Amino acid sequence: MKQRTPVRRTAPAALALLVLAAATGCTGGVEGRPGAAGLRDPYFPRLGNGGYDVTHYDLVLDVDPAAQRLRGTATVTARATQDLSAFNLDLVGLTVASATVEGRPAAVNRAGQELTLRPDAGVRLRKGDTFRTVVRYSGAPRTLTDPDGSREGWLRTADGSVALGEPAGSMTWFPSNNHPSDKASYDIAVTVPEGLTAVSNGEPAAPVTAAGRTTYRWHVGEPMASYLATVAIGRFETKDTKKSRTAGGIEVFTAADRAVAADSAPVLARVPEVVAWEARRFGPYPFASAGAIIGHPGDAEYALETQNRPFFAGPPSAGLLVHEMAHQWFGDSVTPESWRDMWLNEGFATYAEWLWAADKDGVPVRSSFDAAYRNDANWAFPPADPPTAADISEPPVYGRGAMVVDEIRRAMGDDTRFFALVRGWTKAHRHGNASTADFTAYVERTVGRDLSELWSTWLYGRSRPAQKG
Ligand code: TRP
Ligand code: ZN
Repeated sequence: MKQRTPVRRTAPAALALLVLAAATGCTGGVEGRPGAAGLRDPYFPRLGNGGYDVTHYDLVLDVDPAAQRLRGTATVTARATQDLSAFNLDLVGLTVASATVEGRPAAVNRAGQELTLRPDAGVRLRKGDTFRTVVRYSGAPRTLTDPDGSREGWLRTADGSVALGEPAGSMTWFPSNNHPSDKASYDIAVTVPEGLTAVSNGEPAAPVTAAGRTTYRWHVGEPMASYLATVAIGRFETKDTKKSRTAGGIEVFTAADRAVAADSAPVLARVPEVVAWEARRFGPYPFASAGAIIGHPGDAEYALETQNRPFFAGPPSAGLLVHEMAHQWFGDSVTPESWRDMWLNEGFATYAEWLWAADKDGVPVRSSFDAAYRNDANWAFPPADPPTAADISEPPVYGRGAMVVDEIRRAMGDDTRFFALVRGWTKAHRHGNASTADFTAYVERTVGRDLSELWSTWLYGRSRPAQKG
């Protein structure tokens, strides 16, 4: 993110209240401490907030695509991880009309991307308590520019919009604990003018139309990181296969913008095949539904692994579909603990492309590895330690990340055991979070020996090692 945020004003406010409390002999609403305004992510230190864990987001949105404005009510259910006198949510732009905590009006303060809520004096948030926050807001959601120059957040399209949130953009359309380490279930309801469709994550309910507006409801039962939440609004052709036998009985919901619907049909027809192919290699598909959303070319500069149904700006190649679908296991189900662990997403998703090319196109994994090895761009920095926030989606994270996976396979020298290790990894952290240290420890435990040389060379080494024959 580019905008500079002043340090939050919670501490002085709390101090002022304490002084007041001392003067009056009353402790008011200041029992406990304010939750931290950031989670100290190595690349995005202000993202996320401390002091609580969200369990569920209920988002009710009313969108006017012509004006690119929305009105929203976010109900955030969370568990306090400390006694809280105040806490933050991440929200950028938009106007907050009101907020309640546990049904009582809360004091609202905005500073940059930090929305600070101070519960009413009668509300006590003690460690372990589950509490409910309701935020009513409206405005024109923003588009953010990432440190690497790419655009995310709320993106306007030819006939509507799409919300893409990696790494930070979800806070442009709903208030959240905007860090991958705090996953939650979601209900997302979006009302749009009749004739437009709103596609999101999870499973759909039947749309309801009244007075020229249609409400689309989506339910995400499995934990989801905020960066994977999406809403795409436009003129879509949709297809809902309640139970696809080829995708192992999961619901497959696809949406393609009308302008590209015909060109998208062949690749969308392969979604169940790709899910089944990946499930054999990576373990059971982690969610109740799958699919894809295909917008216009130019809607975004990249595809994104939005949970259940990745977003593509125009019809993807089979290889790109394989990549984004692999993220459902690597990224969406097993989610990075911090943005430093990105290579666990992109390395495995790239490796999935190599496996697909070997299986379907007769390109040996060895050839993909060699091409990545020869590519100087993959050696700019170690995949597990990108130098800056602008580098987290650079080639080493993808290409060298995939090389790390193949090096593990070679060190094991046994494909049956290697794929069992991969499935064991997705099983161990299913619907959770994992760090690079979790991964290397897991691999060493499973393989039964020290692999520090492999890590120091491929994961953390700065220079290209000599290739063994
Ligand atoms: N995760 C996307 C992919 O490779 C790419 C991407 C889009 C990305 N936006 C990002 C990566 C922001 C890092 C940060 O499928
Ligand atoms: Zn990817």
